[in-house]
Amino acid sequence: MINNEHTDHLLKEIEHKYQSINQKTETQLEGLLWSKPITYWDYIQTDALLNLQIQRTTLPDEMVFIMYHQVNELIFKMILWEMKQISYCEQIDTVFFTERLMRISRYFDMLTSSFSIMADGMEVEQYMKFRNTLTPASGFQSAQYRLIEFSSTDLINLIDHRYRDTIDSNTSYEFAFEHLYWQAAGVDYGSGKKSYLLDEFEKKYKKAFLNHIEEYNTINIWQKFIQLPVNDQRNPELVQAMRHYDRTVNITWVMQHLNTAKKYIDHSGIGDGAATGGSDWKKYMHPKFQRRIFFPELWSSHELENWGVEI
Ligand code: HEM
Repeated sequence: MINNEHTDHLLKEIEHKYQSINQKTETQLEGLLWSKPITYWDYIQTDALLNLQIQRTTLPDEMVFIMYHQVNELIFKMILWEMKQISYCEQIDTVFFTERLMRISRYFDMLTSSFSIMADGMEVEQYMKFRNTLTPASGFQSAQYRLIEFSSTDLINLIDHRYRDTIDSNTSYEFAFEHLYWQAAGVDYGSGKKSYLLDEFEKKYKKAFLNHIEEYNTINIWQKFIQLPVNDQRNPELVQAMRHYDRTVNITWVMQHLNTAKKYIDHSGIGDGAATGGSDWKKYMHPKFQRRIFFPELWSSHELENWGVEI
């Protein structure tokens, strides 16, 4: 056995680690003797991962649709992971903040540029057939997408702009939740009745969402930014990273998504033009109607007025 100073040091550290939790180091070392050496497939969990693609139809392009959504959910998880690092960093500086934000933006840039996998990578006829088996489900029901929004900005920026005046810091989370911009995709404001899509989504996630909203109320990305010293808030790289993120999530990705939806649902000449989730989607999805902006303070009044208009 190599027994040099480094090994001695390691053994002492190991001893220290196990003593501190009242465990015998020898037992741990003996466990190590019998433990299986790691393999790629055990570590990456490839068997589990590659068994999650279950088609509902016999159409081969449905596989593209399922897998690309799964890739999106994995990337959403990576985004939330980085957001948590920003949110829970005490004494955050502009370098760390910018670097983590750039990671997040790279992930979203990748989701935006790769959206052509949806737009160009499936036969329209196949898509228009297998989508019938997905109704009434919709990407609208992606919980991680909503968690990203809640982690990005103050709740007021996610409230349907028609109701913003009715909400202030004394409003309950519950009331605010009912007026989030995305309720418009699933609520008939005349009857007040929620669609099945929205009802099911809320049954599954509303509690978790309310907890997350409360958790991120003072540590979302915008809050972390305005808690920085004033000079740091003027850091050009950081401001650029914040604006880039806002634009990518709320205009560029949204437009790729909307144009893809139009290609299939509207321009294919197949079907009745209705979305699987049943929303008034052409209007609902456009950034100039939705006006979802995470960091409005970082845009000029001209940029705000023209949000999503130029595309
Ligand atoms: C052919 C591909 C796609 C089409 C035609 C499409 C269509 C739509 C439509 C029409 C809506 C409006 C809600 C409704 O269903 O009534 C929607 C919402 C949504 N979809 Fe997709 N989608 C596609 C791919 C994706 C992908 C790959 C993702 C990634 C997870 C995704 C995530 C979302 C999200 C997060 C929403 C809610 C957006 C919001 O509230 O502003 N979609 N989609």
